[in-house]
Amino acid sequence: MAHIPSFPGVHFGFEAVKELSGELKNRGVDRPLIITDQGLVEHGVCQQLLDALPADMAVSVFDEIPENPTIAGVEGALAIYQAKNCNGIIGLGGGSVLDSGKALRVATNQNMPVIEYLNDLSKVTADVAPYITIPTTAGTGAEITFGGGIHPETNAPAMTIRSIHVQPDLAICDPDFTMTLPPRLTAATGMDALTHCVEGFLSSNANPPTEAIALDGTRRVVDFIERAVEDGSDREARLNMSMAALQGGMAIYMGLGPIHALSMCFGDSPLHHGTLVTVAMPAVMRFYNGKLADSVLERYAAAMNLRADKDAGNRIADAVAEMNAKLSLPSTVREMGYEKTDVDRMIQEAYESPFNLASPIRPSLADYEKLVTEVLG
Ligand SMILES: [Fe+2]
Repeated sequence: MAHIPSFPGVHFGFEAVKELSGELKNRGVDRPLIITDQGLVEHGVCQQLLDALPADMAVSVFDEIPENPTIAGVEGALAIYQAKNCNGIIGLGGGSVLDSGKALRVATNQNMPVIEYLNDLSKVTADVAPYITIPTTAGTGAEITFGGGIHPETNAPAMTIRSIHVQPDLAICDPDFTMTLPPRLTAATGMDALTHCVEGFLSSNANPPTEAIALDGTRRVVDFIERAVEDGSDREARLNMSMAALQGGMAIYMGLGPIHALSMCFGDSPLHHGTLVTVAMPAVMRFYNGKLADSVLERYAAAMNLRADKDAGNRIADAVAEMNAKLSLPSTVREMGYEKTDVDRMIQEAYESPFNLASPIRPSLADYEKLVTEVLG
């Protein structure tokens, strides 16, 4: 039996931000809080958003969401939300900001510390603040997904906030807001989108509509990521990467897999998520090689313009490693500066990750020993 989910509404394309005022009005939001980070304020992206809102609107801004989402960031935003008597949230940023908004929309209507509902997701109810997302990166898919990670402390592993009640009400995907994204982040977040497409495509929950979305997203990353990295002002490349990110977000409604399970076991350091997953992808594709039914790897290889034969998993692995090298991304987690040595803990955490639930084959502990060793480097 297939389940085809419903996604939030999306306004997509250059100038999509023009829809924001009307959408706020439709939701009765006249005192929004924009949550964002300091880099986006410094680069004028926050001002770009303010300019798109009516001049007389009582807009508040919280610009201290950290690079990786934390409870402290959510609580800081909550304090401003309450002090300014806001009645809706606009998340302007990458995955950290957009996931923080998911926790914040719950916190606005709950009289309990954030940690309490992160510990017990049954305490998350439908009583949440209106939430509109505007992604400024192209890759996380966080603009439409109903899950996210929040770190209790900067260096502690993320806790999951996963509930249909935190699914954003609407996403405004206007590639104009991604134009200032620097090359390294364009590369790393763009490759995150590729890992979402592949894990969603290979998921045991996949179905024809989501497979088609994942394959189309894959083609866009393969065709446009280098252009977007080389020339950030390439509007066609930015547009296609924004669409690939959205499609990756749709694909992972079907679940994730070992690539993301592996990324979690290194999550006790503030390493960039997109870089971690793209470093992990080749090892997982080699693990799958020759093991999956229904020619799924062959079909995926074809979407990457690779020869679709029984060695497709290895071909995909080599192609991703080559893309990482071309994009100046690292090839191992050690190259990213990760120094921890408790490999047994890493293997156990990857093995136990709930991301394995939708995996087409669940790697054993022995499989994870090989995978962790290869990815760690
Ligand atoms: Fe991801």
